[in-house]
This record gives sequence, C-alpha cells and structure tokens, in this order.
Amino acid sequence: MIQLTNKYLTDESAAFIISDKKQIKDIQLSKVEMNFAEKMLDNKANFVHINSFYKSLFILLVNSEKDEFTQLEDIRKSGNRIITEIKELKLETINIVNLGSENFTYALCEGIMLSKYGFHKYFKDKAEKTSSLKEIKVVSSSTDSTKVDLLNALIEGVYNARDIVNEPLSFMTAQKLSQEIERIGKETGFKTEILDKKQIESLKMGGLIAVNRGSIHPPTFSIMRWEPENAINEKPYVFVGKGLVFDTGGINLKPSGYLETMKCDKAGGATVVGLMAAIAKAKLPIKVIGLVPATDNRPGNDAYVPEDIITMFDGTTVEVLNTDAEGRMILADALAYAKKYKPQLVIDLATLTGAAVVAVGENTTAVMGNTPKEIEKLKTIGFEVWEKLVELPLWDEYKEQLKSSVADLKNIGGKYAGAITAGKFLEHFTDYDWIHLDIAGPAFTEKDDSYRGIGGTGVGVRLLFEFLKQKAN
Ligand code: BES
Ligand code: ZN
Ligand code: ZN
Repeated sequence: MIQLTNKYLTDESAAFIISDKKQIKDIQLSKVEMNFAEKMLDNKANFVHINSFYKSLFILLVNSEKDEFTQLEDIRKSGNRIITEIKELKLETINIVNLGSENFTYALCEGIMLSKYGFHKYFKDKAEKTSSLKEIKVVSSSTDSTKVDLLNALIEGVYNARDIVNEPLSFMTAQKLSQEIERIGKETGFKTEILDKKQIESLKMGGLIAVNRGSIHPPTFSIMRWEPENAINEKPYVFVGKGLVFDTGGINLKPSGYLETMKCDKAGGATVVGLMAAIAKAKLPIKVIGLVPATDNRPGNDAYVPEDIITMFDGTTVEVLNTDAEGRMILADALAYAKKYKPQLVIDLATLTGAAVVAVGENTTAVMGNTPKEIEKLKTIGFEVWEKLVELPLWDEYKEQLKSSVADLKNIGGKYAGAITAGKFLEHFTDYDWIHLDIAGPAFTEKDDSYRGIGGTGVGVRLLFEFLKQKAN
C-alpha cells in the first residue's frame, strides 16, 4: 500500500530522489552518511545505498540530461533495485522523499510496487517467498491524495492481470477465468455477465465454438461493465481481450519449445480484466465495457481441422487453413459483438502472432488501427508509462493474402507480414473506430525483467489506464 505522510521519521528507511548533486545537502543525513553519499556521487554513481543495521537509505540521482520519459523509467528500475535490497534486509516500511519533479514519486512507487509482485500461490512455503515490504510512505505536504488512490488502484489492476496470466490451465479453464472475473468484479465494483456454452451457441459465435471443439472444457464469453452515473461519455469505450487459456495450436500442434509459454495466451483478456478492476477501483468517470472470449485450443476428437469452413457471429465465412491461428477466430466474434454497444472506440489486445515479436521485439507492442489520432495518443502514453508501441500499416493490399477460393476469408495470410495480415483479418469484423494491440512480445517474460518481473507482465493495464484517465479529465 502506498500512503501519504507529511513527516519523515529519520529512524525509518527512505529513498531520496534528487535531480542535482547539490541537493544532497537538503536531505536528512548524518555527517558520516553525507560524506559517504557525496563520495559515491562524485564517483559517478547515480544510485547509493547506505545500510545501517536497522534501516536502509537509498539516494537516486536522476540524470537531468535524459528526456523526461527515460528519467521516469530509470526511476522505476531503481525501484526494482530497492526491492532487491529490501528483501535481504526484511524491511517493512520505506519513505519516499522526492526533491525532484512530482512525477518521480509515482514512478518510484510503481517501480517498487510492481517489483514486489510475485506469483507464490503454488509454493508450499509461501511466507518465505513473500516480500517483507508492507507500506510505502510518500513524504509530502503538497501531494494530492487522490493521485495516490489512483496509483494504488492501478497497481492492484496490474497484479490482477499478472495473476491471471500466471495461472496454468490446470487451474484456469475458461470457466474458471470467468469465475475469477466475477470475483474481481465484486471486489472492485464492475458488473459482470458470463455467457455460457449454450448462450454462445445460440448467439452463433462460430469462431469461438470452432476453436473450442477440441476441448473438453466449455468456452465462456465474459462481459464486464463499468457505467458510472457521472460518466463523461455517452458511447462506451470497449476493450476486447483474447482469452486463450492455453494454446497448443490444435491439430496444427505446436512443437515443444513453442508450447511452454502458452498459458500466456490469455494475456489480452487478463489485461482487460486488470484494466476494468483498476478503473472501477479508481471510480473513473467514464463508461467502459470489457469483453473476453475464452477457451483453450487443443487437438481433440472433434477438434476443428484445416479446410473447415466456419460461419462466424456476423455471418462471414472463414476457411481455416491453420488451427493455430485461433486467436483471430475468437476475437472476430467478440469484435463483431462489440458493434451492439455503438462504441466510441474499441481497443483489442491479444498475444496474436509470433510475427509481431519478430517485427518489433519482445518488449514492444505492435499497434494497428483505423484512427490515427487515437493511435498517436497511445504512442505518446506508451513512452510515458514505458509500454512502448510501434505502428504497423493496414494497407488494403495486405488483404489480398486473405482471399479464399471457397469462403469470404482465409484465417492465415502468406509467409510475410503475419502480424499485419492478422490485423487485416480482425479489421473485417469492425465498423467503428478501432485499435488493435498485438502484445505477443511484451505480455510474458521468461527471464526476470526488472519491475516487469517474471511471467505475466500485465502489459497494457498501465497504458490504457492512463489513456482513460486522460479522457476522463
Ligand atoms: N498465441 C499464438 C501467438 C504467440 C506467439 C503468442 C508467441 C505469444 C508468443 C497464436 O495463436 C499463434 O499461434 N499464431 C500463429 C499464427 C500463424 C499460424 C499464422 C503464429 O504466430 O505462428
Ligand atoms: Zn495459436
Ligand atoms: Zn494463440
């Protein structure tokens, strides 16, 4: 928990943020501490740790020659270093005393809180794994307490998203995912409606049904609503997340080496849930709908096979040429379903293609869409929160690759531009302002990556929360 306080008690641990070496004189250090810190800073250190036996002090010198967004990211990463030290020392409280610009405080809180996250549910000895840190005290007499509340809500949302991604199929079937969504909705305040297999069938969501056919677990379609009375918008923002609870590839079975991270294929859905949780908890005055189609994709007795022709929710027919291109099948139905809300804007998130990772790398989201103004906004926020986006074009010539001789569309394109042909496929099912985020790279890390952690990162929650926060203002 992050809390506000107006006085720093010098017998507690603290992190001091300064943007100029001279400011070292303005922080509460003993003479010995000061001498040591000055020496370190003179030796070009920008992170100083002074460990006394009962407390720890950290000094972060922000490099003012870097651009603002890089400074914020450096601070978040320092938050990760602090948590590593704190773990060893079993500290429970840390104060933040910031002599730089106000944003630095929030960046450090984020870095610390997001680094503190761990997925410990399955360890026999959970207590041993859990971080000792209980509270961050922001020392300030000018900080707005609502900003701290918003940040607490956001962190909680990222935790929710990461938890969902990190759960394996042995726990999180599509039904379990829907139950978790219901539980989180009750906890944070958004409404949920879960469509079950029968309802999905009677709605004729052909894409979701086809992908589910190889599974013994029924599919679900979760609808989340946050519609506060003081909403600034008439038409809702709709977020659609891919909820593939495990992707084996289906009959086009993935080889080993490609299967081992595929519990992350529900990361888009997880982000939508985390986002809904954060905005409900923060009580943002904005109408938002979240949609998560969910199933696993696996070979089974009745699994869909290549050359099957599927009639989708909106009546479009699709020739399946690869059962591993299943994400677009379930998203297409959800995107077509979203039309009924007469949305202001629809944003979908999906771990959709390996091609997106090839194109923009593991840490970057590929963004596509038909609304340049909103894409520009997202790109800027991407730098601000360091969930960066690179845009890929949706030129019409790419759609040639999706032509089928027996149906309206094929579900895969050719060898090249796989992230774009997937985007073109989705575009077919939209008739509104729309943005597609392919998060196949940044949704999941196999190596510990600073405050992004290991496993599910919750990418997109911070990006879209900030996007909505700016809309609501
Ligand atoms: N879930 C995968 C994409 C993926 C790859 C996510 C790596 C996370 C990390 C998706 O369903 C998939 O298998 N896509 C295929 C599409 C192809 C068959 C056209 C791919 O990218 O290989
Ligand atoms: Zn797949
Ligand atoms: Zn997939």
